[in-house]
Amino acid sequence: MEINGWNRSSLLGLEDLSRAEINTIFELADSYKNEMARGGKLNNNLSGKRIVNLFMEPSTRTRVAFEIAAKSLSADVITISGNSSSLTKGETLKDTALNIEALGADAIVVRHSSPGSPFFLSKIISVPIINAGDGSHEHPSQALLDIFTLQEKLGSLKGKKITILGDILFSRVARSNLWGLQKLGAQVTLAGPSTLVPLKFRDFGVTVTHKIEEALVDADAVMLLRIQHERQNSSHFPSLEEYTRIFGLNSTRASLLKKDALILHPGPINRGVEIDSALADSKRSVILEQVTNGIVIRMAILYLCSNN
Ligand code: CP
Repeated sequence: MEINGWNRSSLLGLEDLSRAEINTIFELADSYKNEMARGGKLNNNLSGKRIVNLFMEPSTRTRVAFEIAAKSLSADVITISGNSSSLTKGETLKDTALNIEALGADAIVVRHSSPGSPFFLSKIISVPIINAGDGSHEHPSQALLDIFTLQEKLGSLKGKKITILGDILFSRVARSNLWGLQKLGAQVTLAGPSTLVPLKFRDFGVTVTHKIEEALVDADAVMLLRIQHERQNSSHFPSLEEYTRIFGLNSTRASLLKKDALILHPGPINRGVEIDSALADSKRSVILEQVTNGIVIRMAILYLCSNN
């Protein structure tokens, strides 16, 4: 596929990505998906490139999908996780990245608990940096695979009501999605307890509500988020049981959605907390399709950033 309209070597977030750039990623991901379904040879590949995954926080989906994506494009891939790196011996993130660059990496995929760490690295090293989640700031590849999946199922997102329900305050997935979804014309509603969904988010153009019925009624899709205990220093609601009782998605509440509305979740899911287990496995759920689409989305990101 001939690539037009991509001039970045790093992907740090969706806030500053244009609608055209998002569509370029989707077109390439779509072409990879079609070529792989046909069993054809991938022309836009990364043969001879070295991709380093630097994951300083736990991950299953993102880490494995980036590994499979790099291998599918014939790149060499090396994964370093926090507890197996020399960061545990006092090395700084900056020195770690400089050493990975000196070892000949062609791109570094970074997950880190500090918001802005991929941006910081992009300023001090010359190889492409791909943000795989930085604290509660952004998780661009996750939002891209979410939006790609929504578009596959719903067609154009213009005017579609997409509700994101749960722990918005600490969610990098919510932040990346609100930028990306709005760029593609969707109407985004953020919902959950007032302690986890500040009204301040209205400044970003979205609807904010603390009434779950209002959030769900006539929605074309709902994306559930888990409570991110690892980023919270204090309790934001009395108990998980109370959270589930007031904000958990169950079949009664799901009946408020549009008839064929989709249920999404970036994972990991906490069954019986933010989502009823049967709903997670229901026909409406596209949770595992999101995961599978994560491979071609990350292939497109790696190719575009590594070849610019
Ligand atoms: N959605 C997501 O980022 O999952 P992992 O933490 O397993 O990568």
